[in-house]
Amino acid sequence: MKYIIEHFGKVYKWHLIEYKHISKIVGKNNLIFTNVKGKKDELLKLGKVYSESVAELGLDSICILDPAAKKILDSRDCKKFQYLVFGGILGDYPPRERTKDLLTVKMPTVETRHLGKEQFPTDNAVYVAHEIAKGKEFNDLKFESDIEIEVGKKLSVHLPFKYVVVNNKPLMSEELIEFLKKRKTI
Ligand SMILES: C[S@@+](CC[C@H](N)C(=O)[O-])C[C@H]1O[C@@H](n2cnc3c(N)ncnc32)[C@H](O)[C@@H]1O
Repeated sequence: MKYIIEHFGKVYKWHLIEYKHISKIVGKNNLIFTNVKGKKDELLKLGKVYSESVAELGLDSICILDPAAKKILDSRDCKKFQYLVFGGILGDYPPRERTKDLLTVKMPTVETRHLGKEQFPTDNAVYVAHEIAKGKEFNDLKFESDIEIEVGKKLSVHLPFKYVVVNNKPLMSEELIEFLKKRKTI
């Protein structure tokens, strides 16, 4: 399975931290960034990079991961798809169906699947899809929503998203935790 991140706009530090994490999760050889209009150097360390949109690459057997899809992704799907496509879109609260409006709209005939109705950060969505591609089902995994990360003495950041629980903790890279500690807000 190859994992495609269709990026939108500038690559901010937060994106880059999540993309590094995704590259660790699925492996550099399985990760493709598309629609990257600016500098590519940092992303080239993490996977293949295209300035074209995924919609322009003429790929077959692809599926878009979109919270607004009608069907949930399951392990049987992963046998028929070769590419899973994610939006390189930071979470927004309340969610505004940006995946549907920015990504799915570009490829109206492509199949779509969701991972439940709540939005995951992109790295978590990729992790969950990767586990499903390896044979697990969505309901085999544990989740936590609306998490608080301590970023200082008596100071925490609230993240109103859904996270997969791995080793009894919501999945988040150490680098993102350090970034939040320095930044202290989202
Ligand atoms: C942080 S989410 C952005 C969600 C965006 N706010 C929306 O409403 O569509 C980043 C990407 O992760 C994937 N994703 C996150 N949660 C998902 C879910 N519940 N089902 C399917 N895909 C999801 C999608 O590909 C999405 O574009």
